[in-house]
Amino acid sequence: MLVSAKDMLQKAKAGKYAVGQFNINNLEWTKAVLQTAEELRSPVILGVSEGAGKYMCGFNTVADMVKAMMKTLNITVPVALHLDHGTFEGAYKAMDAGFSSVMFDGSHYGIEENVEKTTKVIEDAHARGISVEAEVGAIGGEEDGVIGGGEVADPDECKRIADLGVDMLAAGIGNIHGKYPANWTGLRFDVLEKIGEKTGEMPLVLHGGTGIPADMIKTAISLGVSKINVNTECQLAFQEATRKYIEEGKDLIGKGFDPRKLLAPGVEAIKATVKEKMELFGSVGKA
Ligand code: 13P
Repeated sequence: MLVSAKDMLQKAKAGKYAVGQFNINNLEWTKAVLQTAEELRSPVILGVSEGAGKYMCGFNTVADMVKAMMKTLNITVPVALHLDHGTFEGAYKAMDAGFSSVMFDGSHYGIEENVEKTTKVIEDAHARGISVEAEVGAIGGEEDGVIGGGEVADPDECKRIADLGVDMLAAGIGNIHGKYPANWTGLRFDVLEKIGEKTGEMPLVLHGGTGIPADMIKTAISLGVSKINVNTECQLAFQEATRKYIEEGKDLIGKGFDPRKLLAPGVEAIKATVKEKMELFGSVGKA
């Protein structure tokens, strides 16, 4: 059964660790993340962007696949199915399809409109036991065609949004989606600290988990980050392993063309990445 992300993140905040959100793209991806979470007894959040949802034939297909897979694989750790960077309309579609958590990303609106729309989503989501993530200060980089400028959030605006009753808050602190450029100056821990002071018990979310060095991840967790999103890193691991398989000509040997064989190294690479992140985030054994 899917659960809202609220409890697992409150526990993570209190226990000073973070739960990973791993974005999924297909059946193999979903299976790899779920099996790793179960094996490591870690709570987990499956992230689905609107683009990935569309690719997988809609939110209903995704929700039904995840639920059926959890049943068949006998997954007993807490799993939240979460809409990543949702629009206002997208948040409602995901809720209707059975997602247990949604992000409404109003960071590109002015603060008043962000407050107004976030308030409405919270009201309707909470009535259904669904958790809500809101965002202040757009995350930089490109994700599904949405390009954010990499703003640094205003701690007072974070407090305003936190006070609306969101369950988790994403704040831009110099983090970006995708690979970090060579001239990246790192996370703004000074800003994160201020946001943490103003928002108290609110679990904070760090987007753009790919490529953030381990010591920065640990510092972020110590300053109140309880959810870390990872997407590109699993994609790169999958790509690298699949490339190797083909470059070594393994697809040409015997039944090496069978998709179950062809995709297996990539799946193993996703599992290894998820394991590494869960260990780093401290969520292993917390389910
Ligand atoms: P990365 O692709 O940089 O890991 O970011 C993931 C993310 O923040 C999803 O919202």
